[in-house]
Amino acid sequence: MLPTFRWTTFDVTRWLPGDWQPDIAAAAEGADYREFPRTPVLSRESTYVRRILRGRVHAAQVRQDLPWLYQSYRGHFLELARAVCPEAVMSARDERYGIVMNVQRGTTMRFECHVDSNPLTGILFCTDQVAGNGGELVFADDPDAADIDSVERDCTVIRPHAGHLIFFDGRRYPHYARPLLSESNTRIVAVMNFYTESCPESTRPPGLNRHLFGQD
Ligand SMILES: [Fe+2]
Repeated sequence: MLPTFRWTTFDVTRWLPGDWQPDIAAAAEGADYREFPRTPVLSRESTYVRRILRGRVHAAQVRQDLPWLYQSYRGHFLELARAVCPEAVMSARDERYGIVMNVQRGTTMRFECHVDSNPLTGILFCTDQVAGNGGELVFADDPDAADIDSVERDCTVIRPHAGHLIFFDGRRYPHYARPLLSESNTRIVAVMNFYTESCPESTRPPGLNRHLFGQD
């Protein structure tokens, strides 16, 4: 069977400030590291998985600590998002989830297996992950995959390359970030939500903001 998931990659290094990686690493130092509860509706974790340890640099912190990244989300990166999508693309109006960062340190963190609610996601890889050392972004080719083992059985694997920005529609194919295999390793990505005319921001699932932020 042919693989079904597809994505687009841009090398955006030329658009990033010269010191972008240390700047990102410094912001990641202040990440919120804890066990995040599984996401309602969108989670594709086994039912016994209730919480997943990881780091999050929340949107307000990104805006404050990394103004160039916040501006790129509404500028250059939005232009690229519009180039890959046949319909009008918009960045999020709600500042709480437009652009955030996910951080993994050591071998105990990973990112939850889930599907997206937004029709177009951008991920800027901020660290390089060496082959065979974990941290890959993995997409199920089977939309019905309901846990990590099912995803891994038939999947498309993307290895993070610093400075590469990928765009994809993650609504159909469950995906997650593998744990790192070395205690000294770090994985940082910036995650951007984009919306379209046919799937606007108003379609965000009821209860998702309450789950993430304590209010709608
Ligand atoms: Fe996602």
